[in-house]
Formats: sequence, C-alpha cells, structure tokens
Amino acid sequence: MNTIRKKLSHIPQMPVTLTPTPFHRLDHISRLTGCNIYIKRDDLTGFALSGNKTRKFDFLIAEAINQGCDTLIGIGANQSNFCRIAAGVGAKFGLDVHLVLNGKKPEIPTGNLRVNHILDAKIHHIDTKDSKERMNHALFIKDQLLTEGKKAYFMPPGGSTKTGTYGYALGFEEILSDAEKQHIEIHKIFHASSSAGTQAGLVLGQAITGWTGEIHGISVDTPQNQLVEDVFALASAAGHDIGVTIDKRKIFTDDSYVGEGYGKKTEGCVQAVKLFAKSEGIFLDYVYTGKAAVGLLDYCKTGKVKAGQNIVFLHTGGNIELFE
Ligand SMILES: Cc1ncc(COP(=O)(O)O)c(C=O)c1O
Repeated sequence: MNTIRKKLSHIPQMPVTLTPTPFHRLDHISRLTGCNIYIKRDDLTGFALSGNKTRKFDFLIAEAINQGCDTLIGIGANQSNFCRIAAGVGAKFGLDVHLVLNGKKPEIPTGNLRVNHILDAKIHHIDTKDSKERMNHALFIKDQLLTEGKKAYFMPPGGSTKTGTYGYALGFEEILSDAEKQHIEIHKIFHASSSAGTQAGLVLGQAITGWTGEIHGISVDTPQNQLVEDVFALASAAGHDIGVTIDKRKIFTDDSYVGEGYGKKTEGCVQAVKLFAKSEGIFLDYVYTGKAAVGLLDYCKTGKVKAGQNIVFLHTGGNIELFE
C-alpha cells in the first residue's frame, strides 16, 4: 500500500478532495445482477458539490500556483462539471476564473452554470459546436490577459492533462485500499469516460501496482478506438515522468452506450438513473454516470461480467445536471 502515493510524492499537490470517499456495496443492484456491485462515491468528493474533477484539481491547482498564475481558464459545455470545480478552486485559492462555455447563454442559469455565477466566475458563452473555435477563443482570452499583466493557467476540456492524470492514480490506490478494508478482491472497475483523464489516472495506478483486474471506461461521446488512444497518450505522458510504462492492451473502452451523442438522453440511461435513485438512494446523471451504469448493467446481463464477481462502479459525480 501507498506505492502510488510514494511514486507521486515529488509532484506538488494542494488537495481539495476530502478523502477517502465512501465505498460500499449496492445490495439491491447486486441482487438484481447476480454480481457483487460496489460503488466508489466520488459524487461525494466534498468540494464545490463534488465529482471526479476535484481529484484532478488536487494537482492542477498546485501546478498553476507554482507557475505563478493568477487566473484559471477552463473550457467546456454550459453544464460542465469540470468548469464548476475550476470556478470553486479558483475562488478558494484567490485566482480569477474565466470559463469559455459553448452553447447559448440561457436566460436563467441552472445547474452547474448557476453555481458558476455564485462563484463569480467570468463566463464567456460561445455559441458554436466547433471545439476549435471555442479553444481559439480561450487562447485569445489568455493572450488578452497577458497584455493586462495577468498570467493565466489554461486547461483543456475536463482538465485532462498529464498533471491532472495523477489525481486518479491516487484515486485508484484509494479504491484498492477500500477493497482491502472490506476483504474483497476487485475484478473490474467501470466508470464514465470522456476526455480520458480519469481513465488514464486509473490505468497509471494499475500500471504502478501491477493490479490484474480490468478498468472499463464507458464512453459518453468519443469513439472507443480514439478513446483508447487518448487514454494511452495521457497515461504514458504521466507515466513517463515517474518511470512507468503503460500497456495499451490493458485499456478497455466501450462506446456502445453513447446513443445519439454527448448529452443526448437514452432510454436505458433514464431507466438506470431511476434504478439507482429508487433502489439505492443514489443519484446519477444523464450525461455521464447514467450511461456508464447502463454499460455496467449490460455487462452483467450479457455475462461479460461473471456472476459473483466483485465489481466497482466509480460514481464520478455530475448529478447537479439533474437540476438543469
Ligand atoms: C460526471 C462526470 N463523469 C465522468 C466524466 C469523464 O471524465 P474524463 O473527462 O476524465 O474522462 C466527466 C467529465 O466531464 C464528468 O463530468
């Protein structure tokens, strides 16, 4: 234990995540599926309404401050969970926050957007679906701030950089420790995957420890082969700096549950959200965790997960979106 923590000990951190997050068995869903389903409650990471992004920020904010930055720039959708955490972290550490959000400016800000308003983030609505256009706008803001004597720390979607990746390497260690405390051996981990940072961190943790189980990233948008490449690139970059090599064959992704695209509700996802809420009192969301849960339930139903196996569903948060 602590192998990963030791390996990362030289990488600066300023943790906002309250760890360990809870880990427990889902009795009803286990009965229903015939598998032992456990849940890692990263919907309860304890900062700015929680979710997976706080773990990335445990490292990102330290890098921003060590580089002498006074401003954070984040990009994402109007309901971006990542941008909400960026707004919260910036406020806590005294940095300005600019968020470049694609989609029209809504008349009434709801969900994550409302939280960003409370946190006084400076919001730039870019009404485009073109991610390049959004990126260019964000870089323009960065240059503009430079001319005003400010120094901005720019983050790509989801905060999925090499530095952000270390967050879920530690998260992985926490999951192994949770399992040890409950005297169980985990066979597979399932979670929602998109900008690859969460999965890359888990995969890095796996490579450091030599854990023999499988990590399955259920894609919510990216084609599965592309997602493997993204996870591999990020995990390898993060691994390179700490002397760890990543085996691409151990990266599992599945885009079967995306439906019509990012943020588009599927019938299965609506049902999964209801099932978790009604049987376990746990709220998922329709964009990320609901789709990941559909994947998990389907793998159990079709025997891709064997009866009696111990499975961890990593709840990555995002349920603020229910109040959109
Ligand atoms: C709630 C939630 N779950 C999962 C993900 C996917 O994480 P990643 O982008 O690191 O793949 C995100 C990313 O935005 C998210 O907000």
